[in-house]
Amino acid sequence: MQRRPGLRREGDIVVELAGLKLKNPVLVASGTFGYGKEFADYLDLNKLGGLITKSVSLKAKEGNPPPRIVETPSGMINSIGLQNEGLEAFIKNAIPFLAKLEIPVIVNIAGDTIEEYAELAKQLGKEKTVKGLEVNISCPNVKKGGMAFGIDPTATKEVISAVRKATTLPIIAKLSPNVTDITLTAKAAENAGANAISLINTVVGMAIDIETRRSRIGRPTGGLSGPAIRPIAVRMVYEASKAVKIPVIGIGGIMTGSDAIEFFIAGASAVEVGTANFVDTAAPLRILKEINDYLAKHEIGDHHELIGTFKE
Ligand SMILES: Cc1cc2nc3c(=O)[nH]c(=O)nc-3n(C[C@H](O)[C@H](O)[C@H](O)COP(=O)(O)O)c2cc1C
Repeated sequence: MQRRPGLRREGDIVVELAGLKLKNPVLVASGTFGYGKEFADYLDLNKLGGLITKSVSLKAKEGNPPPRIVETPSGMINSIGLQNEGLEAFIKNAIPFLAKLEIPVIVNIAGDTIEEYAELAKQLGKEKTVKGLEVNISCPNVKKGGMAFGIDPTATKEVISAVRKATTLPIIAKLSPNVTDITLTAKAAENAGANAISLINTVVGMAIDIETRRSRIGRPTGGLSGPAIRPIAVRMVYEASKAVKIPVIGIGGIMTGSDAIEFFIAGASAVEVGTANFVDTAAPLRILKEINDYLAKHEIGDHHELIGTFKE
């Protein structure tokens, strides 16, 4: 197909997001891509729109008992429980590799308390490799903190305000789908100073072994991800993007370029690829190529022309 004058070439889409300049709108979702190094042999990390790290907490976390992942129809349930080595080890062990990347590195932070979120933001603000923070107020797999902050608009506002005071870095508030009205937490995050919101984190789910009558993971409940949650995510991106002025990043079961396009039409400015990384280690770049193929086929200059164009 002939390209229209001005039609961008593959990988050329430039996205201004929350004060960050991304080469393209495809990022990788927290917890599904390690700290980048783990995937360096499988794809050129510098071709990603941005890298979001696994959640980092102030102190090391052991995570939940195994098994931590189980397959379910069109998805999976996980109960990792934010296992990580803590901030100090992250700075010592992960930052040197991340520092060599040419793409924006966004660190996902998770605290047990508001003070911990603020401290994480303050410490990470001193690291020049860190270009932004994604604030995880939506993890369903921890007893303290996590989703508790993301299902209550007042708590959402308190956490994001504290992080806002602690840093000048761009802040992306990662919202929970485990609410009745996503616009309330979306607006709370915006009012508290978030530069963007990302959604959705996993949906609380259960899978029971009918022989033992026990959970198929190490805890009774876990977080459902993958294509099974995509229609919920698309709906929530649609609702949230109409409620706020800041950009919305869509997450949830994005396996192909067509899935990403659906999110753009619903109102997302960019997308994060999660569970797809477990199925296809090169998924984010394949998805980027498929987005570009769609744009070329439809003679669309870049994905901005699609954002929020859903017809009622
Ligand atoms: C194994 C696993 C670990 C995850 N760990 C984190 C995490 O540490 N922090 C976080 O904010 N989200 C975490 N998530 C949620 C994903 O980033 C994403 O929001 C969710 O899985 C929905 O997207 P998907 O359907 O494309 O996977 C995790 C998801 C999975 C499957």
